[in-house]
Amino acid sequence: MDWGMKNRLARIIKPETGRGVMLAVDHGYFLGPTERLEVPRKTIQPLLPYADSLMLTRGVLRTSVDANFPVPVVLRVSGGASIIGKDLSNEKITTSIKEAIRLNVTALALSIFVGAQHEHESLISLAKLVDEGEEYGIPVLAVTAVGKELEKRDARYLSLACRIAAEFGAHLVKTYYCENFEKVVESCPVPVIIAGGPKLANELDALQLTYDALQAGAVGVDMGRNIWQSDYPVSIIKAVRAIVHENASVKEAHELFNRLKNKEQTTKTATSV
Ligand code: R5P
Repeated sequence: MDWGMKNRLARIIKPETGRGVMLAVDHGYFLGPTERLEVPRKTIQPLLPYADSLMLTRGVLRTSVDANFPVPVVLRVSGGASIIGKDLSNEKITTSIKEAIRLNVTALALSIFVGAQHEHESLISLAKLVDEGEEYGIPVLAVTAVGKELEKRDARYLSLACRIAAEFGAHLVKTYYCENFEKVVESCPVPVIIAGGPKLANELDALQLTYDALQAGAVGVDMGRNIWQSDYPVSIIKAVRAIVHENASVKEAHELFNRLKNKEQTTKTATSV
């Protein structure tokens, strides 16, 4: 692997632990002002110090993230459909490689829609993006399944989608956790990270999801709503980090969360007075 490619991947998947915590805040590209991400800067800023990398669009990057903060950026470069439109799978590449370089990104992210109406176009877009990424040493994160595709959340479907992404040259694959997840990881020859999905009932469930995915072989998370839709976003991201980077058990991470959330509550109360 080329030095630049290796170096960029090492900024996302930390060599010290072989794992990474990516914070996903790209939801607006098809969901608009998602709950608790209405003002992106407000949501993102307190979490930045605890994210190994940040996944978002160029619009939110330019307007809502301080360029002086050295967080590795995973730039979403696919889009073109919305949650109220006809077909979520109707995406194309929306941001050029030149623009990505101008923004000094660490990786490029694109969704693929295996089994959906626009499967073919999304896979060809992935192939093109990998070609461009390889030319400049920028890794590509393929995102499998989104929105309405979630009904296909089983190991058979996700293995198929992840494997196809890897065959097309993706350097990293993001997918959803499911039963028998180790099968998804085993049959995907590149590292796999998991999305958190819609907000779970409580933080314990989010920590359990993180733990189970890592036990099954995932190298990290690309988590959004289960972090910033929590009442205690800083506490939960720190607890997720403890599982990812310190091998904490669910119990240990949850105890950490409970200790931190009292502090976070006190800080919130103090700043709102
Ligand atoms: C969906 O593809 C979006 O790109 C999100 O980045 C992804 O779903 C991860 O966020 P969440 O943990 O909220 O599902």
